[in-house]
Amino acid sequence: MLFNKSQEENIKNLETPFYYYDLTLLNSTLDQAKAAADRYGFHVHYALKANFNDRLLQAIQAKGFGADCVSGNEVQKAIDSGFPASQITFAGVGKSDKEIRMALKHGIFTFNVESIQEMEVINELAEELGVVASVSLRINPNVDAQTHHYITTGLDENKFGVPTSELEKAATVIRKCAHVELMGLHFHVGSQITDLNVFKSLCVKVNEWKNWFEERGTTINVLNVGGGLGVDYQQPDAHPIPDFGAYFAIFDKFLERSAHQEVHFELGRALIAQCGSLISKVLYTKSGIKKHFLVLDAGMTELMRPALYQAYHQIERVAMGNTGEATLNYDVVGPICESSDCFGKEVPLPVSKRGDLIAIRTAGAYGEVMASRYNLRDEIRYVYDSEL
Ligand SMILES: Cc1ncc(COP(=O)(O)O)c(C=O)c1O
Repeated sequence: MLFNKSQEENIKNLETPFYYYDLTLLNSTLDQAKAAADRYGFHVHYALKANFNDRLLQAIQAKGFGADCVSGNEVQKAIDSGFPASQITFAGVGKSDKEIRMALKHGIFTFNVESIQEMEVINELAEELGVVASVSLRINPNVDAQTHHYITTGLDENKFGVPTSELEKAATVIRKCAHVELMGLHFHVGSQITDLNVFKSLCVKVNEWKNWFEERGTTINVLNVGGGLGVDYQQPDAHPIPDFGAYFAIFDKFLERSAHQEVHFELGRALIAQCGSLISKVLYTKSGIKKHFLVLDAGMTELMRPALYQAYHQIERVAMGNTGEATLNYDVVGPICESSDCFGKEVPLPVSKRGDLIAIRTAGAYGEVMASRYNLRDEIRYVYDSEL
C-alpha cells in the first residue's frame, strides 16, 4: 500500500498527474547501499541520468555518494548540487569539445573515455588548458547483461566503450598523450540486471583486462564496474530496497584487486526507482468489443518507459477507502495521440470510474527525467512524502 489514510485524504485534492517521491524510503535505501559498500571500502557514484530531481540529488549528495554524469549539463548539475568535482565521473560516447573543456576546468575525478579518438581530443583540449586529464578507459567486455536489448550496453554490437580488439592501439595512444593520465578501467554492461551471475561474469572480464594492462607495465588504480543492479518492478512492496549486500559481496569475492586499487560503482536505478510513483487520475472509462480501457490523465509524456521499451510497471488503484470490489482487466492508456501510449494491457484492477486515482509504481528512475512536452503537455509536477 503506497499511502496511509491521512495521505490519501491529502492527495485527493491535488492536481494530477504528479510524481510522488517517498524521501523516507530513499534515505533508507541510500543508508543500506552506503553501509553495504563501505563494508568493502567500495566507492559509489550516483548516476544522474536516472533522475536529477533537486530534492533527490540533495539527499544523495548528503549521504556522501559521488556522481556519475553523461553530459556536460549533468556535470554542472552535480557541481551545483554540491557533489565535489573530485567525486564526479563523466561517461558518454559523444562528449562535445565544450563539455570536455568545462569538465576539465572543474577538475573532475575522471573521464570515462569511450574511443581512441575521444582520448586524443581530450589530450588536445587538456593541453590547450594546460592541465592533465584523468581518464579511465571504457572497455566493452562483451558480457551479455541478460536484460532488454535497449538497455544492454556491453556487447560487441553496442556503441559503447572501446572494443577489446582496439586495446593494443589504445594503450599505445595513451602512452603518447602527455596530457592524459590513465587512472583506471571502466565497464558498464547494462541496466535492470537481476541475475547476479552477470556481475560474476563481469568480474572475470575485469580481472582479465586489468591483468592485460598490468602485464604491459600500466598501473591501474581504479576499477569502475558501472551500474546496472535491477529492482523488483513486479513486487515493489515486497522488495522496496534491493539486496545491496549480495550485490557488493559478488564483487568483493570475484574481483581480484591489489591494496592500491579502488573499486567504483555507478548505480542509478537501484538507488531511486522504488521511491517514485506516478500518480494519475482516471479521466474516462470505456469498453470496446473485446476490451475495457482506463484513460488516464498521465501518458508517455510523463513516463516513457512502457512505450520506449515495453517496460512493466505495477499499476494499482489508490484505495480511497474502497475495498473488496470486483475486478476487471483494463488496458491502461494515456491521453497522447500515439498507440504506444499504453502503460499496461489486461491489467486486473478494481472496477474503476472517472476520478479514481491510479499509482504507477517503481517510477523513480528513468521516469521524470524522460518527461517531454510532446502534445504541448504541462510541465511535470511532483510531491514529496514530507508534504502529505
Ligand atoms: C555509463 C553508465 N553508468 C551507469 C549507469 C546507471 O545504470 P543503472 O541505472 O542501471 O544503475 C548507466 C545507465 O545506463 C550508464 O550508461
